[in-house]
Amino acid sequence: MLWPLTGPVRGRGAHSFKLPRGGGEVSRGWAATTADFSALVRNGISQTQCLILSFQGILSEEPLYDPKILERLDFNKVRSKFNPPVSAVRPGEGLRVRPLRRADFHRGFLQLLSQLTAVGDVSEEQFLKRFDAMQSCPNTYYVTVIEDTTNGQVIGSSTLVIEQKFIHGCAVRGRLEDVVVNNTYRGKQLGKLIIMTVTLLAEELNCYKMTLDCKDNLIPLYSSLGYFLEKGNSNYMQIRFDKAPS
Ligand SMILES: CC(C)(COP(=O)(O)OP(=O)(O)OC[C@H]1O[C@@H](n2cnc3c(N)ncnc32)[C@H](O)[C@@H]1OP(=O)(O)O)[C@@H](O)C(=O)NCCC(=O)NCCS
Repeated sequence: MLWPLTGPVRGRGAHSFKLPRGGGEVSRGWAATTADFSALVRNGISQTQCLILSFQGILSEEPLYDPKILERLDFNKVRSKFNPPVSAVRPGEGLRVRPLRRADFHRGFLQLLSQLTAVGDVSEEQFLKRFDAMQSCPNTYYVTVIEDTTNGQVIGSSTLVIEQKFIHGCAVRGRLEDVVVNNTYRGKQLGKLIIMTVTLLAEELNCYKMTLDCKDNLIPLYSSLGYFLEKGNSNYMQIRFDKAPS
């Protein structure tokens, strides 16, 4: 049995703690066996403390959104786009597609994003605050990741953001954001998998359309997945503000 030992609780919890009598330090956010749990008790950590720490660990594994939605995605519709066939529930051996979790701060999530763009020096506290802010907007943020279960690292990610509209009879629209696959895992269909996962998610959640912006070289990739440039209506414009980080 696994006992999550430590982990941040909404940015306020203990992140690591020292064992008494030179017992070393229990590092953040990870699980330990029941044997370790007993070792903690032997080292003077009360059972209550152990349970609190376990609870904190469980909270740190709380997903950003209900992972069950991923089971409903119909990858049969896009079967022809994958060879061999993969899906969100069967992404391939040693891989898992799932919602972002708090503990992903320690699984290389921000380092992965830094292969997409500048991330900056984001502390764990800032990360958790942002996670909470996203979670407090229900039905809006669907940050989805691919985890390599053999090493526990997050190796792919993309985000569906759902925008609520008044138009089209109070419809909802999807925006595809922040697609990235770790450079040592590229060329294995994982880009297509994470894009199609959030695209089917948008359809499942009743979006009337899903849009994205990308560099010219990725137009063939997105086109192969059903995205298209609508004539006269596919310009992407921006204005940048000096004070905000680029
Ligand atoms: C774009 C990215 C997610 C693709 O990931 P991947 O796992 O290598 O993608 P796949 O293995 O599913 O490849 C799908 C197809 O896209 C093509 N492709 C992938 N990356 C490409 C690139 N940078 N330029 C042009 N084509 C690319 C592949 O050749 C492949 O084509 P094929 O199906 O004809 O063989 C990955 O290269 C990446 O993270 N890049 C850096 C971040 C980025 O640019 N994100 C996109 C923001 S819009």
